[in-house]
Amino acid sequence: MSDQLPAKDVDVLLAAAVAAPSMHNTQPWRFEVEDHVIDVYLDGSRTLPAEDPSGRAMRISAGAATFNLRCAAATLGYGTWFGLAPYPEEPDLLARVVIEPTADCDEELQDLAAQIPYRHTDRHPSDAEPLVESVRLELLRAAYAEGAQLTWLAEDDIRTILDLVLDTDLREISDWHRSAERSHWVGGERTSDGIPSAALGPRSATYPAAVRDMGTRPADRIRGQTRFEDHPDIAVLSTDFDEPADQVAAGAALERVLLTATRAGVSASFLNQPLEYDDLRRSVQRLTQCPGHAHMIIRFGRSRHQSGTARRPVADFLPKEES
Ligand SMILES: Cc1cc2nc3c(=O)[nH]c(=O)nc-3n(C[C@H](O)[C@H](O)[C@H](O)COP(=O)(O)O)c2cc1C
Repeated sequence: MSDQLPAKDVDVLLAAAVAAPSMHNTQPWRFEVEDHVIDVYLDGSRTLPAEDPSGRAMRISAGAATFNLRCAAATLGYGTWFGLAPYPEEPDLLARVVIEPTADCDEELQDLAAQIPYRHTDRHPSDAEPLVESVRLELLRAAYAEGAQLTWLAEDDIRTILDLVLDTDLREISDWHRSAERSHWVGGERTSDGIPSAALGPRSATYPAAVRDMGTRPADRIRGQTRFEDHPDIAVLSTDFDEPADQVAAGAALERVLLTATRAGVSASFLNQPLEYDDLRRSVQRLTQCPGHAHMIIRFGRSRHQSGTARRPVADFLPKEES
């Protein structure tokens, strides 16, 4: 057997990888394929210097793409072995995935691969029903399988999160760098990256709300509004440490949680704005009552709106001579 992955398999693997969530849909990853190894790199031309100066969100996004790649490999009859941030002297190399045929494919990854096309960030209100305990437990296990923790917040802690959201919004009012960066990536019609106006969902009729209003453009600021659920289901995804490899692992955990939620008919959106300030991020982590580092604040629900976002063609993510 040739050591080289067949081109049609590479297409399937990378199409799955790029369907992953990324902050502002920047798709901040690129891939190099050699023999049966796929290296996942950060794309330094797709940074968010104002909102993600350390690159943590980029690494989380690339970790999610790496998880999708592993799921797609399982559907093609491959097993995967991977190292996260394997060479500290090469900080842009976030993951090295070794892909080899196996008679013993991971059935859970195969099952989750089927959910990749249906997973979308859903910023609409949920119905009033709280998630059942078995689903909460399943999502908690999904995070744990990738080395992260998912902590469900109690009602009082959710109020505290909403206060932190308010705090963040006040800090952002006069931050022109952030609003300029966001309006570059968010709003309007978008055919290859960024968040289109159609994916913003409605504005909340009450404030603060358990949804992040990403709209910055004038037309998006006056879009329709509605009431969001009074008792949202919110969880925090954290890891014990905060090194680059931990952030990539957090991304894999995020995607495993989101695909598991999609399979259970559960939608998800994010209110990460407090995590973009170190002091507020520490306050969020304290709510989990565990040491560690918060990476995502996730609102789960039961909305079934399917407003997707576009992706660039797979060839854009490969070195030019390979595309
Ligand atoms: C690290 C990270 C941070 C994100 N932060 C937010 C956020 O604070 N608010 C939000 O509405 N969406 C957030 N998103 C979701 C992205 O906007 C979304 O994944 C992207 O637009 C692609 O859309 P999709 O998830 O529907 O495929 C985040 C995603 C990632 C990976």
